[in-house]
Amino acid sequence: MKDGKITKKIYILSGAGLSAESGIKTFRDHDGLWENHSVEEVCSVEGWERDRQKVSDFYDARRADLENKEPNAAHIALANLKKTYPNNIVMLTQNVDDLLERAGCPEVIHLHGTLTDLRCESCKTEFEVGYESQEGKQCPECHSDNVRHNVVMFGEDAPKYAFLNVLTRAADMLVVLGTSGQVINTASLAQAVKNSIISNLDADPSIDGYFQTAIHEPATTGVPKVVMMIEEYLILENQVV
Ligand code: APR
Ligand code: ZN
Repeated sequence: MKDGKITKKIYILSGAGLSAESGIKTFRDHDGLWENHSVEEVCSVEGWERDRQKVSDFYDARRADLENKEPNAAHIALANLKKTYPNNIVMLTQNVDDLLERAGCPEVIHLHGTLTDLRCESCKTEFEVGYESQEGKQCPECHSDNVRHNVVMFGEDAPKYAFLNVLTRAADMLVVLGTSGQVINTASLAQAVKNSIISNLDADPSIDGYFQTAIHEPATTGVPKVVMMIEEYLILENQVV
């Protein structure tokens, strides 16, 4: 507490498991296929250079698919938490869907980009495309038609990973939700933060052991429980003068 304000910083990092019950496929649960494509084929620089049309068609299909998906109870619980404690919650996600935003969550930080935007290859401007195909779209800044999906691919920089470095120094609590930890090393993040919770459908002893609390159930029931634990932690700080 400082001048009556809660100062604790809770970093929440979510993955594909958060959106699984909204009907969006995870990356590795289906024999390592993402919508029947290998991640390498549609989410790597090599795959992109090999067949740009196939990759663009893939993201067009993901965007069209996303339009009729709905946020689930986990997205809604997180959105309400962030709205209640805007200065204490840092909402990081590996997901490229917009379900947290559609649940009303402000300031979502997408570490791997966003499906509902495109990026200009000429001037790097990111602009909104919604759920439409990228076919025929032009950059609103330089009017180039050399535009691509705004999803970070393997083999590319992920500039927003800078938030992960800050997290290891600034977080009072790390909360990891619905991610296998195969890409962002959640076990090593947990070792750098005093208080840590993981909530995942599947147990993974090689990762769970680094967290103070591990919950193994679907996000729609597990995440609301975790949100309550976070609120208790914040309220407790409120009582400790
Ligand atoms: N509720 C909670 N967790 C779930 C659910 C569910 N209903 N269904 C699956 N999970 C968990 C699985 O146990 C698994 O740990 O979600 C995780 C999904 O893991 P991945 O498919 O590897 O997805 P993710 O961890 O988000 O992948 C990270 O890899 O391909 C890249 O850029 C891509 O952002 C992605 C990154
Ligand atoms: Zn441009």
